[in-house]
Amino acid sequence: MKYLTLHTDSKMPALGLGTWQAAKGEVGQAVSKALSIGYRHIDCAHVYGNETEIGEALTSTRVPRQELWVTSKLWNNSQRPQDVRAALVNSLKRLCLDYLDLYLIHWPVQISHMVMSPQSATDLIPWTTEHALETWGALEECVKEGLVRHIGTSNFSTKKIQILLDNGTIRPAVSQVEMHPYLQQNRMRKFCADNGIIVTGFAPLGSKHRPAHQIKEGEPSLLDHPDIIAIAEKYETTLATILLGWAMTRNTSVIPKSTNPMRLQQNLAAADIVLDEKDMTVIKGLDAGYRFLDGSHWMMEGSSYTSKNLWDGE
Ligand SMILES: NC(=O)c1ccc[n+]([C@@H]2O[C@H](COP(=O)([O-])OP(=O)(O)OC[C@H]3O[C@@H](n4cnc5c(N)ncnc54)[C@H](OP(=O)(O)O)[C@@H]3O)[C@@H](O)[C@H]2O)c1
Repeated sequence: MKYLTLHTDSKMPALGLGTWQAAKGEVGQAVSKALSIGYRHIDCAHVYGNETEIGEALTSTRVPRQELWVTSKLWNNSQRPQDVRAALVNSLKRLCLDYLDLYLIHWPVQISHMVMSPQSATDLIPWTTEHALETWGALEECVKEGLVRHIGTSNFSTKKIQILLDNGTIRPAVSQVEMHPYLQQNRMRKFCADNGIIVTGFAPLGSKHRPAHQIKEGEPSLLDHPDIIAIAEKYETTLATILLGWAMTRNTSVIPKSTNPMRLQQNLAAADIVLDEKDMTVIKGLDAGYRFLDGSHWMMEGSSYTSKNLWDGE
């Protein structure tokens, strides 16, 4: 397994298991299987609704806690400073853990405390720098208390991360963003390299299992691109292995979701693949700035969120 070194000198396994849309009744088995074959990094979130079953799998594993890397995410309805600690403690309880390795602000989007999924713009609260710094301050307190070892962001632009760097006392350790050959995040990678932040890529395989309302008509597919097929043939491996190997060859972390034992194994094999310069150049040419998860579900009529202020043009 390849490891990436964080600004604290801790090491994070570059390949992790994604758990979004991993169904109840399946996710626990998938986590157990993943741990038994060598995964050491599990990416969770309160909003995925499956942390309790993941906690059962974490409890029954023989892998020592110090060898595991567990990430969870603060949901958008708990960003008020008075709600942050309780949200983290609840994730810890569900996951049966004493501490998290990493806790991320899930989105730079705030929703009302009692609402899980906004139905209208009245459930949304405009995002402000002031509120983001209050959330960050509460997360810093959780680090000081030992509830979490690292904190970071998810779906934040470099502009928004810079605000935390300028005003916080603890540096974000990880920026989790959508990343794959159609969205190569070069600006984010450079910014994070300059600031000692690790980039983790989600939706590395194109996130085909997203809810139907999030899938756009005619969206491109990563798993049948002729260039990726040709590279996979050259390495005598699968397309998924190439996509994940590409991410790790760029020294980023990657968290593919699978609940299928065969695909869990295929994805793990990517940790041993290093693509050569020629193949990296071919894949470089596929960047299209294309987001599968474009955040448009936050942009319902009357919402203060727009593509422009969510992504800051990045
Ligand atoms: N921070 C955020 O806002 C955010 C957003 C999205 C995702 N995430 C995290 O990132 C993780 C990964 O992203 P994602 O789940 O959206 O999408 P993904 O990992 O790109 O794609 C998952 C889909 O690919 C299939 N798959 C897995 N391995 C495969 C293989 N070797 N060959 C072919 N198909 C394969 C899975 O099906 P099977 O299970 O049947 O194998 C599933 O349908 C999530 O699970 C979550 O932990 C974070």
